[in-house]
Amino acid sequence: MLNPHLWPDTARLEAGQLWVGGVALPALAEAYATPLYIIDEVTLRGAMRAYRHALARHYPAPSRVHYASKALLNIAVAQVAQQEGLGLDLVSAAELLVARRAGVDMTSIHLHGNAKSDAELHRALDWGVGAVVVDNLDELERLIALSAGHPQPQPVLLRVAPDIAAHTHAHIATGAADAKFGFPLAALPVAIERILAAPGLHLRGLHAHIGSQIFELGQLAATVQVLVAALAQIRAQYGVTLEELSPGGGLGVPYTDAMPATDIDGYAQALAAATQQACAAHNFPLPLLTVEPGRSIIARAGVALYRVVARKFAADGRLLYLHVDGGMADNIRPALYAARYTALLANRADAPPTAPVSVAGRYCESGDILLRDAPLPAAQLGDVLAVAGAGAYTLSMASTYNMSPRPALLLLNAGQVQVIQRRETEEDLLARDLPLAATETPQSR
Ligand SMILES: Cc1ncc(COP(=O)(O)O)c(C=O)c1O
Repeated sequence: MLNPHLWPDTARLEAGQLWVGGVALPALAEAYATPLYIIDEVTLRGAMRAYRHALARHYPAPSRVHYASKALLNIAVAQVAQQEGLGLDLVSAAELLVARRAGVDMTSIHLHGNAKSDAELHRALDWGVGAVVVDNLDELERLIALSAGHPQPQPVLLRVAPDIAAHTHAHIATGAADAKFGFPLAALPVAIERILAAPGLHLRGLHAHIGSQIFELGQLAATVQVLVAALAQIRAQYGVTLEELSPGGGLGVPYTDAMPATDIDGYAQALAAATQQACAAHNFPLPLLTVEPGRSIIARAGVALYRVVARKFAADGRLLYLHVDGGMADNIRPALYAARYTALLANRADAPPTAPVSVAGRYCESGDILLRDAPLPAAQLGDVLAVAGAGAYTLSMASTYNMSPRPALLLLNAGQVQVIQRRETEEDLLARDLPLAATETPQSR
């Protein structure tokens, strides 16, 4: 009854209750309050291992997996990634700080971003990150200046816009030549010449990321072909053989029964084959192949729990909406790009679905609808709604809209519950507010 492509590996139903990681989720909702997010450690570690093993199996040269932590980052998740032998793809100074507090090896980090600040570049240089992925010429000029006095040359990758239009939602397609990210192919020579002349930088390779939620492996293979052709061109033009090829992340995950399953092995096989073919065609040595999956590592490990707090009925008595105690502040995806999800009642999972019902979030936006026309049983007040596939791009994009404290995050494994991010408090929310200076107001005069 539970689709294994949508729910965590350890998810099961027992006496109508949803269990994950050896824990009954309705009891967790009671004990930790809602909205509440959980991560199944077995599923998380399993996906990380699946990537590493699949690449090792299909690619005969060295490969690395960097977890794209924009999907979900906190100290514990960074530690799990490090324990599983993954590097991290990070995009801000504070994400670097999380990695440092987690004890992550800085040389396993790629720093991304199209608008990195000087402070972020400074931190990357001072802490010795594995590579800065340079996005544009302005950033490159600043990095050249900042790295000039550094004892060790800073490795860099160049982000290329490979001009491949990924078949995904426009908001998460990033590979077109006019997308905001990366150097158009024609602009690469200027950047390469600047780096080769900069004593503080070491050009290590090329990177591209064409978007997220990609199921057509041919588009990723085409990205590899473009990058290898560019590597061969750089060798021909400048006599340097770059050692790293990073075709980004982006493998799709299903959120509903109708969507295809995540195929990590097929993905690794397609990338490895494309890299080997392209390298053979250009007589280029096999580079270090680095991939950066985010969503396909953490989405299915996560489940969001909400409490049904009210309902709306039509004049004819039909149930139209379940109102729950979370929504777009903890999961913006349905409002942002009409993302769909699958849900069940965690405390009455064996009740048969009745007429489709929509699940409305609690925030003051009519677009705050978490699920549209979901096949759910007629819910009662107090029921616990569990949303599958909630690990990626939910909490990492969460806001405090309507002054809502962000949910707690629990890591579950073999009946053990670990709070890895506590719920935000009202005091946290108010901590940055300062009252008006004590001046006379016009009325008080
Ligand atoms: C540069 C880069 N790498 C990797 C990823 C991860 O993508 P996904 O979570 O779809 O695997 C992203 C996400 O947009 C990204 O921008």
